[in-house]
Amino acid sequence: MNIAILTSGGDSPGMNAALRAVVRKGLAEKLRVFGFYEGYRGLTENQYLAFDHESVSEIIDRGGTILRTARYKKFLEPETRERAVANLKALDIKTLIVIGGNGSMAGAEKLQELGVHTIGVPASIDNDIYGTDYSIGFDTALNTVVGLLRKLRDTASSHERIFIVEVMGRKCGAIALFSGMAGGADHVCLPETPAMEERQLKQMSEIVNRRYRAGKTHTIIIVSEGSGSAEEVGRAIHERTGREVRVSVLGHIQRGGSPSAFDRILAGTLAARAVDLAIAQESGVMVGLKGNRVQTVPLVDTYTKPIETDPELAELASILS
Ligand code: F6P
Repeated sequence: MNIAILTSGGDSPGMNAALRAVVRKGLAEKLRVFGFYEGYRGLTENQYLAFDHESVSEIIDRGGTILRTARYKKFLEPETRERAVANLKALDIKTLIVIGGNGSMAGAEKLQELGVHTIGVPASIDNDIYGTDYSIGFDTALNTVVGLLRKLRDTASSHERIFIVEVMGRKCGAIALFSGMAGGADHVCLPETPAMEERQLKQMSEIVNRRYRAGKTHTIIIVSEGSGSAEEVGRAIHERTGREVRVSVLGHIQRGGSPSAFDRILAGTLAARAVDLAIAQESGVMVGLKGNRVQTVPLVDTYTKPIETDPELAELASILS
């Protein structure tokens, strides 16, 4: 039996560990495993390789993806998808395993509608995929942000400055909320409440003033990119408090680096289950981790059902700050 893998959308640490696991588990089950380069683009343009055991050596600890990845808008066109289906048929691929975020799961669902067996494996630093408590790469990105907050705190306190730190997450506040809790931020702006809303700006200014009155030398505020621009927030806070503000947009540095042990284990576990499902001829589902158990969820749910910030956790983060 032949199966294929691709990695698609924004890269995330642990994608390599996931594709290594698909290859090694697949070969152990006597499958032939192919990989398409650059996500759906390589699938459409028939750019592939046949994996062997060694071709995934020494990648478990490497960020990014050796298959490379792409955001391939042309895949929205039906003719493009038909070419992809033809390429899979020519190689006699029985199941395509897609490692990526919710846009990638939508692509997999579209292929499944054309009769291709597809299984999704969630990988995104944003942790914004319905059907799994954690997506591969989130834990590593979170630890990267927490490490950077530690460094920012040193310079912030030395200069008695306010730091407005913008973190990734598109429309999802998971990186902001978790890093705010773990990094001891003084305030977190989540996508649910725009950072430039009067109420938020007032609250932030009060926090800053209260901290200075209490003798604190610095303030760290995290702005999730879905909540607004740190640059704008920085200007507004400076105008309102008259204090020195610096802005730090962490950007793509959050996506790189060696995956954490948690992400490697998550990747291995979910990818191996994806191979089991391929062998069982299952299709149209994504594997995910729910309450420490591997479960499956229909692909369509992964990108249509909303992911909301846990209000209790947000409340707790605010109490602890
Ligand atoms: O989905 C991962 C992510 O890093 C988001 O947090 C961010 O909004 C987006 O990708 C950035 O995309 P790109 O790398 O294409 O600029």
